[in-house]
Amino acid sequence: MNPPAHPLQQIAPDVKLGQGVRIYAFTNLYGCEIGDDTRIGTFVEIQKGARIGRRCKISSHTFVCEGVTIEDEVFIGHNVTFINDRFPRATNAGGQLQTEADWACEKTVVRRGASIGSGATLLGGITVGECALVGAGSVVTRDVPPHAVVAGNPARVLKRIPLQPGRRAGEAALPEPASAPSNP
Ligand SMILES: CC(C)(COP(=O)(O)OP(=O)(O)OC[C@H]1O[C@@H](n2cnc3c(N)ncnc32)[C@H](O)[C@@H]1OP(=O)(O)O)[C@@H](O)C(=O)NCCC(=O)NCCS
Repeated sequence: MNPPAHPLQQIAPDVKLGQGVRIYAFTNLYGCEIGDDTRIGTFVEIQKGARIGRRCKISSHTFVCEGVTIEDEVFIGHNVTFINDRFPRATNAGGQLQTEADWACEKTVVRRGASIGSGATLLGGITVGECALVGAGSVVTRDVPPHAVVAGNPARVLKRIPLQPGRRAGEAALPEPASAPSNP
């Protein structure tokens, strides 16, 4: 059973909501899927085709675009921006406004238990690994390995952490596997 809709939410009839989903005011959701017990903060927009798992927290002012899949138990901070078009253009070669036919959506996946810090921007076509943590304000241009902490612009690996979903960081660094790249 979901709480009654807030009068200042816009949730399109095609949105698939799980049980116990909590959505705050001034949100705009259409054509997307939200899993059980997930929370969606104020001023969040979630576009068609985006999928959000169970027990996630999506903080205020975040934009989740088409092509984004967020698995279970993921934390998304405030004002996080996902991107699905690396070379955006307003118009096509004929000078008309672009339509769906004029571009290809680049898909992004945030794996289970990961956290994305506030103000981060994630370019399209990226996978953020399980339980990884993206620092505040980062610009993520490449895949993030599981359990890695990345930060900066472009985001680089600071360390690896033995985080599990639902656990806070004990933050003892894991030894680097011999074959692991030093950057994502
Ligand atoms: C990335 C993060 C987890 C690192 O925390 P930490 O392990 O305690 O790291 P430290 O503070 O020891 O910093 C280590 C280095 O990384 C740098 N750094 C830390 N966070 C950074 C960030 N977000 N962007 C760029 N550099 C960062 C530090 O300046 C430091 O650099 P130095 O060694 O050259 O001095 C943390 O800073 C962060 O951004 N967390 C996300 C918080 C957030 O957005 N929460 C959501 C809502 S409240």
